[in-house]
Amino acid sequence: MEILIRPTPEEVAVTAADILSAHIKRGAVLGLATGSTPLATYRQLIARHRAGELSFAGCRAFLLDEYVGLAPEHEQSYHYTIRNEFTAHIDIDDAAVHSPDGADPRPWEAAERYERAIIDAGGVDVQLLGIGTNGHIGFNEPAGSLNSTTHMETLHQQTVVDNSRFFDSEDEVPTHALTQGLATIRRARHLVLLATGLGKAEAVAKLAEGPLSASCPASSLQLHPQATVVVDEEAASHLVEKEYYRYIEAHRPAWQGYDGQPIEGVL
Ligand code: GLP
Repeated sequence: MEILIRPTPEEVAVTAADILSAHIKRGAVLGLATGSTPLATYRQLIARHRAGELSFAGCRAFLLDEYVGLAPEHEQSYHYTIRNEFTAHIDIDDAAVHSPDGADPRPWEAAERYERAIIDAGGVDVQLLGIGTNGHIGFNEPAGSLNSTTHMETLHQQTVVDNSRFFDSEDEVPTHALTQGLATIRRARHLVLLATGLGKAEAVAKLAEGPLSASCPASSLQLHPQATVVVDEEAASHLVEKEYYRYIEAHRPAWQGYDGQPIEGVL
């Protein structure tokens, strides 16, 4: 796992956009996340697109998760949110932006179909992730299987409380969601997890330095050969080995990209 520490959330977004841009230029299959943390990164990418630096024309995208019971046109569905916040503002084909069907009355079938669609697309090249205050990624809550594929999850009460800020009241937050599983997420070739703010500091420390445990679903990134965690100083504040992570970045070989691969033409 590579941990990149930035002074501010804005600089987290710039670094995340740099990493994603390299994949986008190769026409990647993108794994997209919702939540408030990636929004600044999406704004960076939209700005680069508007400046003529970046085209998403060759890209496809798969969302991490979706609420069960919300129609795609519901303003809080992730289908709607990702378009509103990101994909409607770039040149990706709308039909190439996929999400689990939260409105399917047979959610277990929707989950299977989604898992298959990701495999049929050749898998995700780069998966963007946020993290819940309880260590969830996507909607994989504590105590789920570390080897899960796309499935329906019952939201933790903490997640319902955290996400109620997007709804008129807590009662309106769906109780269930369809989410890529931890094994699905780990099949992506490069994972990029973003976290900002003090509220995420404990979850970030557990994900990077705690034991591999279903109690902190994000710790499953420890099993991934190419995971990059980009955090601001506040989210990094509980990391014991913070100085070592800075040292690693300061000594990064000039030829090495954030995906761990040699940068073409550097040597
Ligand atoms: C939701 C999403 C997650 C996201 C998390 C944190 O529960 N399903 O993908 O990482 O919220 O969101 P935020 O970035 O708003 O803190």
